Amino acid sequence: MKNKVFKEFREKLLELWHINSALAVLSWDQEVNMPTKGADLRAKTIASLAGLLHQKFVSKDFAKIIKEVKKFYDRSELNRKEAAIFREVWREYSREVKLPSEFVEELAEVCSRSQSVWAKARKESNFEIFQSYLEKIVEMKRREAKLVGYKNSPYDALIDTYEPGMTSEELSVVFYELKIFLVDILKKIKKSKKKIDAKKLKGNFPLDKQEQFNKYVAEKMGFDFEAGRMDISTHPFTTNFHPDDVRITTRYDRSNLLYSVLSTIHETGHALYEQGIKVENFGTPLGESISLGIHESQSRIWEKNIGQSKEFWKYFYPELKKIFPDIFRKIKIDEFYEAINEVKASPIRTEADELTYNLHIILRFEIEKELIEGSIEVKDLPKIWNAKMKEYLGLKISKDSQGVLQDVHWSGGSIGYFPTYTLGNLYAAQLHAKIKKDIPGLEKEIEKGNFENLLAWLRKNIHNHGKLYTADELIRKITGETLSSKYFMDYINSKYGKIYGL
Ligand code: CO
Repeated sequence: MKNKVFKEFREKLLELWHINSALAVLSWDQEVNMPTKGADLRAKTIASLAGLLHQKFVSKDFAKIIKEVKKFYDRSELNRKEAAIFREVWREYSREVKLPSEFVEELAEVCSRSQSVWAKARKESNFEIFQSYLEKIVEMKRREAKLVGYKNSPYDALIDTYEPGMTSEELSVVFYELKIFLVDILKKIKKSKKKIDAKKLKGNFPLDKQEQFNKYVAEKMGFDFEAGRMDISTHPFTTNFHPDDVRITTRYDRSNLLYSVLSTIHETGHALYEQGIKVENFGTPLGESISLGIHESQSRIWEKNIGQSKEFWKYFYPELKKIFPDIFRKIKIDEFYEAINEVKASPIRTEADELTYNLHIILRFEIEKELIEGSIEVKDLPKIWNAKMKEYLGLKISKDSQGVLQDVHWSGGSIGYFPTYTLGNLYAAQLHAKIKKDIPGLEKEIEKGNFENLLAWLRKNIHNHGKLYTADELIRKITGETLSSKYFMDYINSKYGKIYGL
């Protein structure tokens, strides 16, 4: 009886997943291939399919089967994997059924209109154009939190969509400690006598040669090009339809080679996670990544902890010199290593180094939390933003396009998303510290361009499990402790202490 019910449950889930995959292909195509004039129809096709997916998920048909499975779950008759599948689907299901269709549709429409208004506001650096739209989004997000329910802060209900189980209270504690540390070390770096000139890495890098190098690096890391592709888009991203079809994109800048190289390493890190998920679990939560924070930890380990280390470039720098001899011939590897790790406060989040990046995130986290809790108002955001930028990064913001208007997230309704970026950095450092213990010869292996043990470790400990564990369970299982900013601070102290002679 149980097996029959569970089999039917999995079939229903698979149906939903196929629609999901179709949606992902459409979005990928929109970013990579679609002509501009196709935008209008594409938005309608996506909205209609997304509606269908929602309807199927909250249908009577699906309710019947999931409630039957729940009985087995409540009687503890499901095995460990089945229980995890149920737990995750139930979590999402209970959230979804609490949101009335009219609310979901209204939010989708508000967000889709807001995005073009935001783009205009940013272009003209005029916050007032966007203000009433953002007010509407914040009001709806407060309503969403109320509908979904929460224990302490309404912001928790929003964080939960991206990082299940995480709370604003836990984040506040971890982020506060991190903020004090970062503001302090940034001051020391500014005072340091060491001057790094990253401009010497600028040059003229033909795009085909950049692509050649990027593909070489991705392949070395373990990306399977027979189960994936690499294309170009305005904003780099990774998408997956199945572990055998995982796609990454990158963006090229003719004068800045490292921009595409580091973003390729980052996206390859995401892609290796997706390619490492077990095919047999496809169409269930065990065939999905745990959370955005854990996903980001995979990209960050590769991009920062590995990809911006000296060992990594001991292997790849000679190759880089072969492809671009004119520019790199005169630059020694030590200078190159320091230049790619220059710390410099920038008003723009996406241009920030790995240290100041987190101050950008903490600033957004603090603002989002207070906005959703209702202790600050949208109209005051530019003032609040600029004051925090001055305090944390020592920067004076003169244009809102360089400040509060720089990110697309809020206009798309993504409030509670930003913290997952810094969570990714913290998880990455905590995992990396454990990996180094488990693989004592790791640095030597990387110097030789050998990433097999590293990838095998990530596969075994993280990728293979899908959503079997929650983020917190996984981190505790691997490292023996819960999320901690200690490892990231140690990593920053040690790396930048050496570079800047602190
Ligand atoms: Co990422």
